[in-house]
Amino acid sequence: MCGIVGYLGNNQATPVLLSKLRCLEYRGYDSAGVAVIEGDRLNIIKSAGKLSNLETLLQQERPSSTIGIGHTRWATHGSPTNENAHPHTDSTGTFAVVHNGIIENYAQLRTELIEQGYVFTTETDTEVTVHLLSREYEKDQDILGAIIRTVNVMKGAFALGIVSLKHRDRIYAVNHHYSLTVGLGENESFLASDSTAVRQYTNKIVRLEQSEIAEIKTNSYRLFSFDGTEAFREPVSLNTEPYKIDKEGFKHFLLKEINEQPLVLRQTMSKYLPNFSSNPKAPISFNVERFSADSSEGVYGVKMTDNEIKSIKRIIIVACGTALNAGMVGKLVIEQLCSIPVEVEIASEIQTRNILADESTLVIAVSQSGETADTLAAMKAAKAKGAYTLGITNRPDSHLAQIASNLIVTECGIEVSVAATKTYVAQLMCFYLLAIYLGEKRGSISQDHAVEMKKTLHAMPALMEQILAREEEYKTLSLKLADASDVVFIARGVNYPTALEGALKLKELSYIHASGYAAGELKHGPIAVLDSAVPVITVLVPGKVYEKTLSNAQESRARNARMVAVAVDGDEMAPETFDHIFRIPPVEELFSPLVTIVPLQLMSYFVADYLGKDVDQPRNLAKSVTVE
Ligand code: G6P
Repeated sequence: MCGIVGYLGNNQATPVLLSKLRCLEYRGYDSAGVAVIEGDRLNIIKSAGKLSNLETLLQQERPSSTIGIGHTRWATHGSPTNENAHPHTDSTGTFAVVHNGIIENYAQLRTELIEQGYVFTTETDTEVTVHLLSREYEKDQDILGAIIRTVNVMKGAFALGIVSLKHRDRIYAVNHHYSLTVGLGENESFLASDSTAVRQYTNKIVRLEQSEIAEIKTNSYRLFSFDGTEAFREPVSLNTEPYKIDKEGFKHFLLKEINEQPLVLRQTMSKYLPNFSSNPKAPISFNVERFSADSSEGVYGVKMTDNEIKSIKRIIIVACGTALNAGMVGKLVIEQLCSIPVEVEIASEIQTRNILADESTLVIAVSQSGETADTLAAMKAAKAKGAYTLGITNRPDSHLAQIASNLIVTECGIEVSVAATKTYVAQLMCFYLLAIYLGEKRGSISQDHAVEMKKTLHAMPALMEQILAREEEYKTLSLKLADASDVVFIARGVNYPTALEGALKLKELSYIHASGYAAGELKHGPIAVLDSAVPVITVLVPGKVYEKTLSNAQESRARNARMVAVAVDGDEMAPETFDHIFRIPPVEELFSPLVTIVPLQLMSYFVADYLGKDVDQPRNLAKSVTVE
C-alpha cells in the first residue's frame, strides 16, 4: 500500500526519490509523485499508473533540487487519478504533504476548512492535512507548532512526510500507528516507510516510535511527541545485509519466490531447530535474540515462561489473506498436538467485537508484513484484555514486532511479489515448530513423538524440491485450465486451508473467479454451480480424510465437472475419479499442507502468465495493507 520517501543532502533529490520509490513498489500502488523544492517554488510532479509514468515526466522536466519527498499511492479516498496522486499542496504552494493511512475525521475537517475559505482540489482525505498546516502556520509562523496542532486534530492511523518552502533545510516526518524510518548518511538524510528503501543508502537508522514527529536535516535530526516534548534517541546501526531485490534470472519474482521455498524452510528450521542433524533430541529454541547492535532495535523470541505456557487455556489466531489460511493450518496442528482450543479469526472482524480474551489467552497475530492494519488492531484489542501476544512475521522491523510481546520471525528474506508464497510456507513451518514446542512444554506430546515430527519436518525441503522439479509437467496440466471462468477447490481437514489458499492464489494472479470449500460442504450449496465448464480441484492425501474427500470429489464427477486433483504418487484410485492429476511424492497427512500448496501456486502462476496478467503486481492488490 502507500509508501513515503524523502531525501535531503548534496545530491539531486529526484533520482534518489525514484530509486527509493522502486523499493516500495512491491507494497502495491496505483499512482506516484514527488515534490521537490526547486529555487523559490515547490515543484510537484505526479502521475496515475506505474512509476515508469512518473519517471517519464521526471526525464522531461529534469527538476533540479536537493530536497524532496515522494509517494506511491494505493487509492482509498478518490480514484487513482493524476489529481488525487500525492504529494498535495495548499493554495499558496507553501507546503507539500505525502500521507499513508486514513484520516478518519477528514469529512468533518474538510467541511470546517471549506467554511473557513479553503479550496479543495482533490477527493483525498490527505488534502485536509495540507490546509490544516497552512491554517495553523498562519497563526505564528512556527512550523513545528503547526504540525503538532495539525496532527492533534486528526483522527485515525497515519504517517506523513512534509516539506515547506519556508524551511528549505528540513523535512518533517510524522508517525502515528504506522512505520517510518529515517536514514542518516554523510551530509544527507533519508526517509522511507520501509527500512528496505533506506538501507540501500545507509545502515544508520532511526525508527520513529508511535505518535512521534521527526525534524530531519542534512546532518541532524530531532524527535518530538505529539505534545511537543522532545525525545532523545540515538540512531541504530543495522548489521544485516541490505535486501537484494533481484529476479536472479527468473521471469517473475513470484516464480523465484516459489522456487525459494525449500531454502526458506531450511532457513526457518535451522534458526529454531539448530544442530538437529547432530542432536535430534535437542529442543526447539525460540530463544530471545537481538537482531541489531542496539536493543532499542528490538529483541525477539518466545519469552513466556514454562508456567505461563502451561497456563494457556485458549489461543486466538488473528490474520488476513494468506496469513489467515496459514493460521487455519496452525489451529489444526496446535489443537492436535497441544489439546488447547484454538480459534482463527479474520482480523477485520474480531477487532470490533467483544474479544473474549483474558490472562489465560494467547493471541497469535500472523502477518508477513507486520503492518496489516486490521491484524494490528486485533492484536492491540486482545492485548488490552490482558492476553499474551505472539507475532509471526517476516519483518522484525515492523509495527507488529514492536507491539507483540513474543515474536517468531519467518526467515524468508524480502518477498517482492504481491501474492504471498514463500512466506506462507514459512508461516506453516513456524506453526508446526510452535505446536511441537508448546506440546513438549505442556507435556501433551512425548519426546519420541516430537523427535519423529521434527524428522518429518526436516525432510520437507527435499520433498518440496522433488515437487518443484515437476514444473514442466505441472505447466502442461495448468494450461488446460486457463479457459475456465470459475474454479472450485475442495479438501478436508488439514488441507481445507490449502483449498482456500489455492483458490486465493488463482484469483489474485489470474483474476479467474475461484472459491475454496471444505469438501463436505460442497453438497450444501456450491454443487449447484458445477457443470462441465467448472474445474473442481481436489487436494487428496492418504490419511484420516482420504476416503471422505474422494467421495465428495465423486459427487462433483457425477455433475460432469472437470476433475482435477493434487494426489500422491502411487494413489491408484485417483485416475478413476480425476481427469488431470498434479502428482506429488507421498507425504504424511498432518504435514502435507507444506507441500500440497506448491503445485497450486505453480498452477496459478502458469495460468496467470499464459493469460498475460501482471503476475508480480496484480491489479488492485497491495502487499502491505496499512488501512483498516
Ligand atoms: C494483502 C496481500 C496478501 C496478504 C494479506 C495479509 O491482501 O495481498 O498477500 O496475505 O494482505 O498481509 P500480511 O502482511 O498481514 O500477511
